[in-house]
Amino acid sequence: MRAPFGALNPLLALVVFGLYPSMTIGPKEGWQVYSSAQDADGRCICTVVAPEQNLCSRDAKSRQLRQLLEKVQNMSQSIEVLNLRTQRDFQYVMKMENQMKGLRTKFRQIEEDRKNIMARNFKELQDKMDELQPLIPVLEQYKTDAKLISQFKEELRNLSAVLTTIQEEIGAYDYEELYHRVISLDSRLRSCMSKLTCGKLMKITGPVTIKTSGTRFGAWMTDPLASSRNNRVWYMDSYTNSKVVREYKSMTDFVSGMESRTYYLPFKWAGTNHVVYNGSLYYNKEQSNIIVRYSFEMGRVLAQRALEHAGFHNVYPYTWGGSSDIDLMADELGMWAVYATNQNAGNIVISQLDPQTLEVLKTWNTEYSKRNAGESFMICGTLYITNSHLTGAKVYYSFNTKASTYEYTDIPFHNQYFHMSMLDYNFRERALYGWNNGHQVLFNVTLFHVIKTEDDS
Ligand SMILES: *[C@@H]1O[C@H](CO)[C@@H](O)[C@H](O)[C@H]1NC(C)=O
Ligand SMILES: *[C@@H]1O[C@H](CO)[C@@H](O)[C@H](O)[C@H]1NC(C)=O
Ligand SMILES: *[C@@H]1O[C@H](CO)[C@@H](O)[C@H](O)[C@H]1NC(C)=O
Ligand SMILES: *[C@@H]1O[C@H](CO)[C@@H](O)[C@H](O)[C@H]1NC(C)=O
Repeated sequence: MRAPFGALNPLLALVVFGLYPSMTIGPKEGWQVYSSAQDADGRCICTVVAPEQNLCSRDAKSRQLRQLLEKVQNMSQSIEVLNLRTQRDFQYVMKMENQMKGLRTKFRQIEEDRKNIMARNFKELQDKMDELQPLIPVLEQYKTDAKLISQFKEELRNLSAVLTTIQEEIGAYDYEELYHRVISLDSRLRSCMSKLTCGKLMKITGPVTIKTSGTRFGAWMTDPLASSRNNRVWYMDSYTNSKVVREYKSMTDFVSGMESRTYYLPFKWAGTNHVVYNGSLYYNKEQSNIIVRYSFEMGRVLAQRALEHAGFHNVYPYTWGGSSDIDLMADELGMWAVYATNQNAGNIVISQLDPQTLEVLKTWNTEYSKRNAGESFMICGTLYITNSHLTGAKVYYSFNTKASTYEYTDIPFHNQYFHMSMLDYNFRERALYGWNNGHQVLFNVTLFHVIKTEDDS
């Protein structure tokens, strides 16, 4: 968190950067900057004289106030986002709740005229009921969250009102107090949001077709760690024999084809399973098991490292082939590589990577054959694997790295254009990015909170 009262920043900015050749401001209006000259190193020097004391504090306070107002505005936006997300999930939960209520009623009815029902049917219903039992704490959690959000809203409204009323009587209010209220609200909001964003995949909706371009095989992505104002899109058409990455400033520019930059990578890539994470592109160097980290800002490779024992060059690709042996991805917990090894009999291996050095931090062996996997993506430390790249594909298997357990799943998604050569989760957008037969598509996901139980560390 920044220092609470950053109102003296103008002085700092002028002295450090000194870009203003000369400025004259009347003493009543604020800071005076008398002159600028160059020192031995060619830097500008400004002589700055502070304005009269009372004016200064008044100036500082109004600046603080403006900052607080901005902060409140930012938080309001965050709450709106939170609200949207929760509503989306909430609708799903409500449906489940109704189903459950219906089932309970049916259950009671059946229990009443039990004599007329065959024992087998009865048992079946009871099992279904048991299956739904774990949902109850989830539902309760959602109700608490909904209450929490409306409480936030109320507090924000209150705070905004206070700020507005004191705007005229600057100086008469305890800013320290106000500031701490804002900060505490901010941190509570953040912890609430982080709680809401992690969960178990329940449903995939869409896709929405963003654009139709390129060959049948390719990759496109945004950086989940970029700031909210930075919505750059990267586009890497084809799975082989290419090293050209196209960059767009925003989704709108991407749709209209207004490219902002082109990068020529030092090595060609293999497959379509690249990821952009915290300003770097991570990809598999062609015909090798080497992972490359390329910084867009510096325009050079910052790290490269062989992924030990990983099959490459169509030894263990996904079902569609295309040298998709090594899949790099990022989620809320960090960076991951998904691949297969002879040691694990061609089954999928998951490694968590250090995004700086590409060192393997930890590895998990699954029992799912890589060659029988359509695609895979990671959400909150759980790997989800689809069973095909063709029509009718679904998320078929999941592996939880926290518990080292697997589960068979049955989560369908609409493979609109019949051939899927890329599917990756972006936790900032809370969406799956797909390359669907020359169409760039987005899916929404519905996540459930993972409720802690005794066997969930
Ligand atoms: C509010 O958000 C904007 C844009 O995201 C950011 O530049 C600014 O620093 C934020 N203000 C505060 C006080 O957090
Ligand atoms: C709103 O502000 C008033 C004082 O202006 C205070 O009495 C009240 O408790 C506040 N409500 C909330 C929810 O913070
Ligand atoms: C992202 O990069 C910045 C430096 O550019 C670094 O300080 C920060 O720790 C990185 N974040 C993650 C999650 O790796
Ligand atoms: C995802 O959901 C949001 C909010 O409901 C909606 O605005 C957006 O269009 C959806 N996107 C996709 C790809 O379905």
